Amino acid sequence: MTSNIDYIDKIPNNVDLGRDRVLQRALEHWQPAYMGWWYDMGPNESHNYDVYLRTAISVDPEGWAVFDYVKMPQYRWGIFLAPPTGDRLVNFGVNKGQAAWQDVPGEYRSMLRRLIVTQGDTEPASVEQQRMLGMCAPSLYDLRNIYQVNVEEGRHLWAMVYLLHRYFGRDGREEAEALLDRRSGDVDNPRILGAFNEPTPDWLAFYMFTFFTDRDGKFQLSSLAESGFDPLARTCRFMLTEEAHHMFVGETGIGRIVQRTAEVMAEHKIEDPDKVRALGVIDLQTVQRYLNFHYSVTLDLFGGDVSSNAASFYTTGLKGRYEETKIDDDHELTDATYKVGGVRDGRVIDEEIPALNALNERLRDDYIGEVQAGVDRWNKAIERTGIQFQLRLPHKGFHRQIGNFAGHHISPDGEVLTEAQWNAHRDEWMPSAADYAFVQAMMTGRVVEPGKFANWIAPPRRGIHTQPIDFEYVRFN
Ligand SMILES: [Fe+2]
Ligand SMILES: [Fe+2]
Repeated sequence: MTSNIDYIDKIPNNVDLGRDRVLQRALEHWQPAYMGWWYDMGPNESHNYDVYLRTAISVDPEGWAVFDYVKMPQYRWGIFLAPPTGDRLVNFGVNKGQAAWQDVPGEYRSMLRRLIVTQGDTEPASVEQQRMLGMCAPSLYDLRNIYQVNVEEGRHLWAMVYLLHRYFGRDGREEAEALLDRRSGDVDNPRILGAFNEPTPDWLAFYMFTFFTDRDGKFQLSSLAESGFDPLARTCRFMLTEEAHHMFVGETGIGRIVQRTAEVMAEHKIEDPDKVRALGVIDLQTVQRYLNFHYSVTLDLFGGDVSSNAASFYTTGLKGRYEETKIDDDHELTDATYKVGGVRDGRVIDEEIPALNALNERLRDDYIGEVQAGVDRWNKAIERTGIQFQLRLPHKGFHRQIGNFAGHHISPDGEVLTEAQWNAHRDEWMPSAADYAFVQAMMTGRVVEPGKFANWIAPPRRGIHTQPIDFEYVRFN
């Protein structure tokens, strides 16, 4: 296998699809259904736009993509796996030391399918959540970025669907169809995970989502990239290349918002959030409340703090820890322990539990470390303007629906409160209907002049690829 991608096929790929007629026909059958989903649930009114997009042309880390104008329905979605590394092994769990599996081990089949379906379901979900946002984009640059994220989430769906079709036969095909049937937020047929059924109603929410929730994606993909099932590992490794841009969009998006707000505050020497709002920028308190919301719902995505499923995924060798092979231990965790949080006698406590059962919590902690670094960078941007305000991550137990903290009422400082006490502060800590109304009122139309930006966001430091900031990233035709 080469790292080059076959673009002659209807479905671009580097998996020799042309040699497997049955699989190729199955995927060509799924393709029109996918296109139907894209026309219905992809970015609103965008089908005829020419968008300056990157398209993967190779899985070589150097120069894997080209940039050019593309109409999104003609985007070359395809199947790309990172190249195999010859003698790869299962690197953890009870099967440690065996050759990595090139086929699904029979006894793990349903567990593996569940992992792939759960990951796959998040990809189209985020496109659905974001589909109206193009109508109120703050610039052509940002509009192009959301479309880039959307087409790549579409490709990530392809990546998971390939695995389902190639390795799971009939039930894989059925799962692939179901991935196009579920809808984010639908009462009867919702997406699998909670955060992917929450609306993404405005651009502040979008940047929060790409910063926090796409980063959950990164950590999930990273631990699946350690999988003993080699095709899954290689698929996820290539997806991670694309994912980096999504998190960049989120981090710089929030960074540009807080920078703009802080500059306006410094210039007018004001701190009162109402006065800040009156100047047409988003007050930092509202940014903090959005942060609290998106952080807490994303922490839930990692699953229960104590989880026997996570233990099984690890023990079998299907899903590793973040950067498993760089960790210096026995990679079996039979005697190891790990600290998880919880509530006892009205106080937040830590307790040591078997590390195997704490793998969700460990991945969540790895994630939190990276998120904190991003928040620190935002705070630097605020600090540079001379404004005294720091964003911060709320306590891990704040507003949790899953795990040891679910059912408790934890303040952002980690105090255990009664429900009534917590509710009395709700609108200080979480975005209120009025916050959403304010933010959305600011984003009623889109900015379409090249190089122009909405008042509430600073321009980026540079453009996309080698283009200037005032490049015409989207042509509406
Ligand atoms: Fe994705
Ligand atoms: Fe993503």
